[in-house]
Amino acid sequence: MIDLRSDTVTTPTEGMRAAIAAAAVGDEQKREDPTVTALQDRVAALLGHEAALFLPTATMANQIALKLHGRPGDVLLAEETSHVLVYEYGGVAAHAGLLTRGLPGEGGRLRAEQVRAAAAPSTKAADQRATVLSLEDTHNNAGGRVWPLDELDAVVEAARELGLALHLDGARLLNAATAQGVEPARIASRFDTVTLCLSKGLGCPLGALLAGSEELLGRAWREKHLFGGAMRQAGIVAAGGLYALDHHVGRLADDHVRARRLAEALHAAGVPIDLERVETNFVQIDLAPLGLGRDEALARLREAGVGLSATIHPTVIRAVTHLQVSDADIADASRLIGETLLA
Ligand SMILES: Cc1ncc(COP(=O)(O)O)c(C=O)c1O
Repeated sequence: MIDLRSDTVTTPTEGMRAAIAAAAVGDEQKREDPTVTALQDRVAALLGHEAALFLPTATMANQIALKLHGRPGDVLLAEETSHVLVYEYGGVAAHAGLLTRGLPGEGGRLRAEQVRAAAAPSTKAADQRATVLSLEDTHNNAGGRVWPLDELDAVVEAARELGLALHLDGARLLNAATAQGVEPARIASRFDTVTLCLSKGLGCPLGALLAGSEELLGRAWREKHLFGGAMRQAGIVAAGGLYALDHHVGRLADDHVRARRLAEALHAAGVPIDLERVETNFVQIDLAPLGLGRDEALARLREAGVGLSATIHPTVIRAVTHLQVSDADIADASRLIGETLLA
C-alpha cells in the first residue's frame, strides 16, 4: 500500500538506524547522556531559544509547556481545531487545570482582534482570565497550513500587549519554515515555548523537543519527571534526531513538491481539492461534492492500494507526503485516487 495516511508512518532509514546503533549514551535522567545533550543544544540554537528539553512525544511537550504557563482556573486560548484542544484528551484540564476557549480560525489561524476580544477582562473582579495563547504552525487540521509571518507577528504582538504567555505547537514547524524559506528561529523565537516533533516529517521513530528560556526549561525538567518522561539511555533515540537534522530537513521541500504534484494531478482529473490550501505536505480532499461517505471512500482507496486518512471535518479526507513516498508513488497514487473516487 502507498501509505499517505500521515507523516507519522515513517520508519527509520538505514542511515538513521546506523546512527542510532552508534550513539554514545548515558543516564539521561542524571543529564549524563551526551547525545541527548547535543540534540537539545542543537534544537535550542535552531529555534532561537536558550534551551531545549528532549521528550518522548510532542503531546507531552505541549502539555508540559501549557502547564508551565497557567495555573488552575486560568484560560487557555487556542484555535478551536488545534491539536492541543482536540487530540490531547483534555490534558490541559487534567494536568494543568486550565479552562480552554477555542476560537474559530481561518486556515488554522487567529486574528489579533479575536485574541484581544477573547482576552479582554470583564468588569467582574473574579473573572476567568486568559493567560495563555497557543498557536499551531503548520496547522494539522487546517491541512498543513502555514501562518503568514505578518499575521503571526500581529497576533504575537497582541498577545504580548495583553500579557499572555505564548506557546507554539510547532510539531511541524520545520515544514512551515521550509515553505516560507525562513530560518525556523524567525518563527519560533517569538514564543515563550515551542514544541518541535521528530517523528513526523523528520522521520524519527519517536521524540520531541520543547524549547524556551533556561528558567522555563528548568521548571520543565521537573514536569518531565512528573510525567514519567525522564529517561535513561535516551541517546539511542536522540541520535535519530541528530541524524534527521543533518539529513531530513532539506528534503522536506521534496515532500511539499510531491504534495503539490499530487494535488494538481487530482484537481486536473476532477477531484475536489482547493489548490490554494496545499501549502506543505498535506492534500485535503472534500468528498461532499462527490456524494461519497468518508468511511466508504477510505475503504475503497485502501482496497485500491493507497492509504488516506480521515480528518476532523466529516467530509474531508487527506493524503500526507513524507520521507517514504517517492515520485513513482505520487504518480501511482494520483491515478489510483482519481480512478477510485471518480468511479
Ligand atoms: C500539530 C500537532 N501537534 C502535536 C502532535 C502530537 O504528536 P504525538 O502524537 O507524537 O505526541 C501532533 C500529532 O499528530 C500534531 O499534528
